[in-house]
Amino acid sequence: MTTPLRLGIAGLGTVGVGIVRIVQKHADLLEKRAGRPVQIVAVSARSKTKNRDVDLSAYDWEDSPVTLAKREDIDVFVEVIGGHEGPAKDATEAAIASGKDVVSANKALLAIHGQALAEAAEAAGRVIRFEAAVAGGIPVVKSLTEGLAGNEITRVMGVMNGSCNYILTRMQDAGLTYQAVFDEANQLGYLEADPELDVGGIDAGHKLALLASIAFGTQVDFDAVELEGIGSVTIEDINQAADMGYKIKLLGVAQMTGRGLEQRMSPCLVPDSSPLGQLAGGTNMVVLEGDAVSQIVLRGPGAGEGPTASAVMGDVMDIARGMRVTTFGQPASTLRKARAARAAVAAPYYLRMQLIDKPGALAKVAHVLGEAGISIDRMRQYDHTDTSAPVLIVTHKTTRSALDEALTQFKATGVVVGDPVAIRIEAV
Ligand code: HSE
Repeated sequence: MTTPLRLGIAGLGTVGVGIVRIVQKHADLLEKRAGRPVQIVAVSARSKTKNRDVDLSAYDWEDSPVTLAKREDIDVFVEVIGGHEGPAKDATEAAIASGKDVVSANKALLAIHGQALAEAAEAAGRVIRFEAAVAGGIPVVKSLTEGLAGNEITRVMGVMNGSCNYILTRMQDAGLTYQAVFDEANQLGYLEADPELDVGGIDAGHKLALLASIAFGTQVDFDAVELEGIGSVTIEDINQAADMGYKIKLLGVAQMTGRGLEQRMSPCLVPDSSPLGQLAGGTNMVVLEGDAVSQIVLRGPGAGEGPTASAVMGDVMDIARGMRVTTFGQPASTLRKARAARAAVAAPYYLRMQLIDKPGALAKVAHVLGEAGISIDRMRQYDHTDTSAPVLIVTHKTTRSALDEALTQFKATGVVVGDPVAIRIEAV
C-alpha cells in the first residue's frame, strides 16, 4: 500500500468538523485523486466531551494543540483554531519546528505573522498553505499563486466579508438602519464573537493583506491596510447611491502604484450593474486583474462549514500529491518590504450634503469645489424640508486631499448643514 498522508487537526469547531466529515465521506475519492490515502491520525480541541455530531472514535485525542503539532506520526498539521496569538501561533510554530507541513484557515495569524512563519517553514523545508483563510470556499489563493503565475498582477479587489455584505444588502432590501440590521445579524449568529472584526473591516483587511502579498511579491503588511468599517453607512446613503446607479460595498482594493503599495478596505460605491454591484447577501467576490489575463471574477461562499473545509482539503490534497508551493507564491526571502502609498489614486466621489434652502447656496458649494480643482459630473437635489435641501454630487476624478480641502471649506460657506458625507466611487 502507498504511504498515507497523515493529518493532525487542531480545532473542532465548524471548520474542523467539516474537514473530518469530508475525510470520512470522501476517503475513496481522495485516495484515487492523490494516489495515496488521506487519513486523520489525531485531533485536538478545547473540550473533549462536547457533542459534535461526528464520530471521532478512530482518532487519538490531544488536549494540547502544541503536543498534537509535535507528534511524530503526523505529516500535516491542520490549524483551524483561530486567533493570531496563543495556541494557534504556538502550535503552528511547533509544527514547523518539528518538520510538519501546515494547512491553516487562520487569516489573522498569517496576516500578522505570515512573513516570519513563511521564512521559518521554508528554512525547514516545509510548506504553509492557507486557501481557507481568504474568501472561504473560493480558490483565490490558488488562482493567484498558480493559475495567474504568468501575469504581472495589476489590481486585486473584492468583497471578502460576507457578514458586511449581508448587512448592507439587507439594509437596502428592507429599508432598515445599520443598527437594526447589525442587531439582527448578531442575534442570528452571523457575526464573529467580536463583531468589530467583521463590521470594522479587520477580517476583510487581513484577507486583502494576504492577497496583496502574493499579487505584488511583498511582505504581508496588515498594518499598512487603510481600514474603514461599515458602521457609518446610513440607509440614506444606500438609497441615494442607488438612485444615482450605485451600490455601497465594503470593498478591498490592493494595487501597486508609483507612490507605493495601496491597500484599502473601506465602503465604496460600485456601479449597480457591475458583478460587484450585483453581489447580494453573505456571498464573497474577488476580482483579479493581470496584464495577460485582463480580469477574472470569482464568486462563492466566503464562510461556513462546507466551503471553508473544502478550501482546507484543496490544500491538503496539494500536499498529498506532492505539490509544494511557497507560502506567498515566491520564496519568502525574496518578498520585499513595500512602501505604503500614503494616498489613494484619484477617483470620482459621491458627496451628500444638506444645504440651507436660500438663493446662492448651491453656487457657494460649486465655488468651493471649483477652487479645490474638483469638477462636478452629476448633481441632484431632493425634496427639501422647510429650511434645507439634500443635495447629491458625483464628482469627476479627484484626489482625497483635494476633497478633504473642499470638505473643510464647506464649513466656512455657512450654507452646509452638518457634516457632508463623501464616499469613493471605485472603477470596477
Ligand atoms: N466573518 C467572516 C465573514 C467569515 O463574514 O465573511 C470568516 O472570515
